[in-house]
Amino acid sequence: MISEQLIDILKNAKRVAVLTGAGVSAESGVPTFRGTDGLWKRFSPEELASFDAFMRNPELVWEWYQYRRSLIYDIKPNTGHYALAEMEDLFDDFILITQNVDGLHQVAGSKKIIELHGNIRRNKCSKCGEYYAEEIPVDKKEVPKCRCGGLIRPDVVWFGEMLPEDAINKAFYAARNSDLFFSVGTSGFVHPAAQLPITAKESKAYVVEINPDKTAITPYLDELLKGPSGKILPEIVKLLKLNNA
Ligand code: OAD
Repeated sequence: MISEQLIDILKNAKRVAVLTGAGVSAESGVPTFRGTDGLWKRFSPEELASFDAFMRNPELVWEWYQYRRSLIYDIKPNTGHYALAEMEDLFDDFILITQNVDGLHQVAGSKKIIELHGNIRRNKCSKCGEYYAEEIPVDKKEVPKCRCGGLIRPDVVWFGEMLPEDAINKAFYAARNSDLFFSVGTSGFVHPAAQLPITAKESKAYVVEINPDKTAITPYLDELLKGPSGKILPEIVKLLKLNNA
């Protein structure tokens, strides 16, 4: 249920920022990290998602990312992704900040997007850092090599690694300067991303969470719209279009 206060804020909001997490892709069939069937319940991040792990056992880490790619390549965006893509044109200033590496926001048509944790569809060299443009089939088991001889890795942020500086700076700028901020489908456990809704709140934005459950940051935000993002985001878009009509 969208509150009267939020309806009013939606009508007048000029600068809007949205942070998304794995929950946005859940309705497309992409597993989350911390849910009952989440990836970190079944797999160990220490063995699979750090640079040390990759150096210790590149084949295993590569295989895991190939497995995750196989999960997402046939998957379609859901109504939540499409609603966010539409929201771009419904505000004067809009930015989507995502922690997701699945690239589904772009498939849905989002263009104003900041990727905080990289993108699993891209690869780069673990030695020289150059992007690896060649298409790699998901069933390729051997770790490809760069021209420089370095091993190719997915262009995602691993535990212990810094987030891309430009992305995090732009994301905090958006959080500090938004008048309406949405935190959608994220558990609020992983920093610095989890700090963005808090920063927005401290900077006087109205901060709305969209999630079927309470999260680590719910107590610090203004309003929780309890439910799946694939249902709630299209309702928000519908409201906005009614206002603009
Ligand atoms: P989590 O798995 O920690 O949290 C997913 C959130 O989505 C939970 O709060 C769920 O309640 C919520 N959720 C589930 N279904 C939903 C739905 N249909 N609609 C809306 N919300 C739903 O995922 P993240 O918060 O994205 O980092 O995790 C943050 C980071 O931790 C990831 O980017 C990844 C991981 O380690 C890296 O790999 C660097």
